Amino acid sequence: MKFKNILVDIQDTIAKITINRPKKLNALNKDTIQELHIAFKEIQSYTDIKTVILIGSGEKAFVAGADISEFAHFSGKEGANLAREGQEKLFDFIENLSTPVIAAVNGFALGGGLELAMACHFRIASDNAKMGLPEVSLGVIPGYGGTQRLPQLVGKGKAMEMILTAGMISADEAKDAGLVNYVTTLEGLLPLAEKLAGKIARNSSVAISEAIEAVNANYKEGVNGYYVEIENFGNCFETEDFKEGTTAFLEKRKPNFSEE
Ligand code: COA
Repeated sequence: MKFKNILVDIQDTIAKITINRPKKLNALNKDTIQELHIAFKEIQSYTDIKTVILIGSGEKAFVAGADISEFAHFSGKEGANLAREGQEKLFDFIENLSTPVIAAVNGFALGGGLELAMACHFRIASDNAKMGLPEVSLGVIPGYGGTQRLPQLVGKGKAMEMILTAGMISADEAKDAGLVNYVTTLEGLLPLAEKLAGKIARNSSVAISEAIEAVNANYKEGVNGYYVEIENFGNCFETEDFKEGTTAFLEKRKPNFSEE
């Protein structure tokens, strides 16, 4: 896969996507959002890929936000369209992807950058990372799902504080708040992401995708997550992976999952 603003590197069962605009601290412009959409869509169709790791290029930033230079002159209608299209194409798209996506937050994750990390299935960070939603300091609010996903992850009070003060928190503070799962060194970040991806790869892909859908159902308007769980639990019983997983357990051996 060849792109201008991102790099895609596939090794074994892991696809690493690097947002590659280091001179602009990997700010998300329209083209980058489109390229990420295409990359994620293609990756989902490659059944050999079990996990995606999303990271920023360089040592300074994961993503320092949406590209402010692109929307500074927008009207209200254009602003709403920007948020709607971005949410549909990238943020909601990643959240609902059946392949797990780990955000490896390697520096600033601000505004759209933190929103991107929050749309991933879980996050790890390097100890130099700084995270925040500074939009109100620019006279706007988070538009790529930040007002919804931040309270889901850290609770309403902490989310309100972060959004209303427009402040940044450190990697350790983010871990204490439940925003990231682990903090490590910058050098240790990719190895840790790969280790976690390796653990995911051992499990049934079909069960993983049913689990992602069931967990996400808890946060969907008008959807009863318990019903989705019951449905998806049942779906698993119809799969070869379920037969293999349970048989392997009873035969005291490791499962060899084949379903995609
Ligand atoms: N949109 C567009 N360009 C951005 C950007 C963004 N969100 N974030 C950084 N950049 C650009 C800068 O304009 C600068 O470009 P230039 O060299 O052509 O002038 C380059 O990236 C480097 O950024 P700079 O501000 O010089 O680095 P710094 O180390 O002094 O500060 C930050 C780092 C992250 C604190 C600062 O870049 C910043 O506040 N960025 C905006 C964060 C933000 O508000 N994001 C939410 C957007 S809704």
